[in-house]
Amino acid sequence: MTKTAIIFGVTGQDGSHLSDLLLLEGYTVVGVARRASTDNTQRIKHILTNPRFELVQGDITDTHSVLSILKKYEDVDEIYNLAAQSHVAVSFKQPALTWDITGKGCLNILQSMVDLGVQARFYQASSSEMFGKNYDEHVRGARRDEIPKGVCCDLPKSIRVKYQDEDTKFLPQSPYAIAKCAAHHMTRLFREAYGIHASAGILFNHEGPRRGETFVTRKITKWIGEYVNWLEGCEFGSTGIVLPKHEDMVRIHGRPLNKPELPKLRLGNLEAFRDWGYAGDYVEAMWMMLQKDSPQDYVICTGETHTIREFLDVAFSSVGIDDWNDLVVQDPEFYRPAEVDYLKGKSDRAKKELGWTPKHSFEDLVIMMVNSYLE
Ligand code: NAP
Ligand code: GDD
Repeated sequence: MTKTAIIFGVTGQDGSHLSDLLLLEGYTVVGVARRASTDNTQRIKHILTNPRFELVQGDITDTHSVLSILKKYEDVDEIYNLAAQSHVAVSFKQPALTWDITGKGCLNILQSMVDLGVQARFYQASSSEMFGKNYDEHVRGARRDEIPKGVCCDLPKSIRVKYQDEDTKFLPQSPYAIAKCAAHHMTRLFREAYGIHASAGILFNHEGPRRGETFVTRKITKWIGEYVNWLEGCEFGSTGIVLPKHEDMVRIHGRPLNKPELPKLRLGNLEAFRDWGYAGDYVEAMWMMLQKDSPQDYVICTGETHTIREFLDVAFSSVGIDDWNDLVVQDPEFYRPAEVDYLKGKSDRAKKELGWTPKHSFEDLVIMMVNSYLE
């Protein structure tokens, strides 16, 4: 029989990939999107006419709205909560709104499920941001159970590897991460207290051509695409602030460029490490979690970590630019009041219990994102 899934946050990066996957798997998908004054369905345009896809209006912060959607689809098989104010820097500027959407929104769904007796399986989009400043360490080459936790700090740094997995304690560094921790614990509590089949995926950063344009990977790759187009004589689309000097252009490109000047790429902290994967791979893990007989929380990551600088190296070199220093400006505006310096996941549980591993490498991802602007 055809399964039905509700996706809160269907218009986002992951919501669109997950819809594609579930439709391919034969599901009927009910996507919940909030009311906007402009069209917010860009990422799901290609499925809006699919007879197995239905778009309904709803806001996760409005209990009545959530209740009435769950009441209408009370026989639903799976519910995915992907809705969030998901931008970490924005969460420092709009902490209360972030709390309402990213934290309380999850409670609104879980409590509605209990109140209405909805028997569906539930997925919560938890985040590696919850680890914040914290990490564990293991010894290079050793199995994780060979060296007891806490012993590593006595060993030389050169053989210690920092990582986060399901046992790493949370030490959140932003209002966003704190809201995610609350939702994560709420998911666990409702699983234990009410027996809901509720799983949380602790996903590390995942990106792709559908990523929001203010996240660092998309901001970088978009700028490179525009830069290449500009070099080739196309119009430069963004409004810029800092303009590179004509002499810089001559120095970088070895020839004068007789065109209007181009704004530089303005970024914040380039030293943070992130474990970046491809969003299309990660939504498969979400779905796999809900196919298991027992609910469980899983870390989903690549196990590789890179700095923003390394991302810049690969992205620029993919269009033949080896030295990007004159094209990028570090701007205090993009620094955060508190930073997460290091994320590198360990997804042994997902590999073992779900059979999930990422299909795309870091280099694949960067090149895919740059190319999406060149095509
Ligand atoms: P995203 O692109 O920012 O999408 C967020 C979605 O939530 C959008 O559809 C957005 O609608 C919707 N939304 C926001 N406020 C809402 C409200 N009040 N009511 C209903 N819907 C609302 O995020 P994403 O990258 O797809 O991530 C999906 C989820 O995974 C999020 O919960 C995020 O925090 C979490 N996560 C993401 C990553 C990552 O690296 N991408 C990693 C770990 C966890 P609009 O389109 O109208 O804005
Ligand atoms: N956005 C942004 N813009 N980040 C910048 C910039 C900039 O101009 N310059 C440097 N950065 C640094 C940030 O300080 C951070 O260390 C890193 O780039 C990544 O920032 P984002 O791409 O905004 O992602 P994030 O890691 O803060 O959060 C994303 O991943 C989380 C999972 O770990 C979001 O998708 C969250 O929703 C998600 O939970």
